Amino acid sequence: MLQNGVDLSVDLCGIRLRNPLILASGILGTSAALMERVGRGGAGAVTSKSCSPLPRAGHPNPTVIKWGPGFLNAVGLANPGVEAQVEILRETRRRLVDVGVAVIGSIFAETVEGFARVAETLSAAEPDLIEVNISCPNVAHELGAPFSSAPESAAAVTRAVKAATDIPIIVKLSPNVTDIAAIARAVEEAGADAIAAINTVSGMVIDIEAARPVLSNLEGGLSGPAIKPIAVRCVYQCYQAVSIPIVGIGGVSSGADAIEMIMAGARAVGVGSAVFWGGVEALGRIAQEMADFMSAHGYRCVSDMVGLAHRPSSWQPSSIEVGVATGRCI
Ligand SMILES: Cc1cc2nc3c(=O)[nH]c(=O)nc-3n(C[C@H](O)[C@H](O)[C@H](O)COP(=O)(O)O)c2cc1C
Repeated sequence: MLQNGVDLSVDLCGIRLRNPLILASGILGTSAALMERVGRGGAGAVTSKSCSPLPRAGHPNPTVIKWGPGFLNAVGLANPGVEAQVEILRETRRRLVDVGVAVIGSIFAETVEGFARVAETLSAAEPDLIEVNISCPNVAHELGAPFSSAPESAAAVTRAVKAATDIPIIVKLSPNVTDIAAIARAVEEAGADAIAAINTVSGMVIDIEAARPVLSNLEGGLSGPAIKPIAVRCVYQCYQAVSIPIVGIGGVSSGADAIEMIMAGARAVGVGSAVFWGGVEALGRIAQEMADFMSAHGYRCVSDMVGLAHRPSSWQPSSIEVGVATGRCI
């Protein structure tokens, strides 16, 4: 679809997205009606709330607090379980088919075998893609260290999910590690079709009047503008480590933020916290801002900009047509 004369559409694992903006998991992805609104508001794809083999109540309140322009959350992966999620995803696909918005189903489990089971069950809903959430920082007390903590465990989940479904999978990584590039390489070698970076950044806020952490879970995951430089750094490092597509997520709230993520190496861009402030039209607005920037700077399509920030420092910005001239639009 041309917007301001530029083509915002991207290919993500063989799925054509009308623009690179994806509703991130956990934000308004709890019902078909909400995902439909975000899709009709301008998203290229929507991701459902992560679901597990069985329903989970999540943590007691308080689970989400506003922090600066973002949030600290420890929702605790509350979800109705994969059987119910299959119905939600079927209904979401039905509602969004005329708009051409892709639907991504997000999964998690306590064990490698559990990941395989939930992937197999979810596949009945035929989502366009499955996102494998191995990186939630808020459930370690119950589920142990996230699978994204080490290359071996991240690879084990990836292999198991790949064996359980024919739907392309995106493995979602954590910034709360020493070497995200090593984990990205491990999941690529294990068969991931794409990676998403990043999940939330582990943090804590203390109420000094009460002299105790505010969240019932004590720790939570930070999201929103404060984490964007961390996300951009992670995407940049992953781009150097792997050749599968990257979905850049973390702190994106404007077209400029999305372009920055793409220049770091992202093929598509997840948006979460910004939807709390910008409403269901937030992704449509960001897409329009991207198109305005691209049109003003002579970029013809998104792939002209993917990874541009990796050019050697000797590169001279004499012609922005560097990307445009290559005709690499994919
Ligand atoms: C309230 C809340 C719930 C979330 N739930 C999930 C989830 O279920 N699965 C998941 O993979 N990520 C979850 N996330 C993480 C987001 O998908 C995203 O990776 C993160 O918020 C960073 O993006 P943002 O800065 O645009 O919000 C959640 C984030 C928030 C704020």
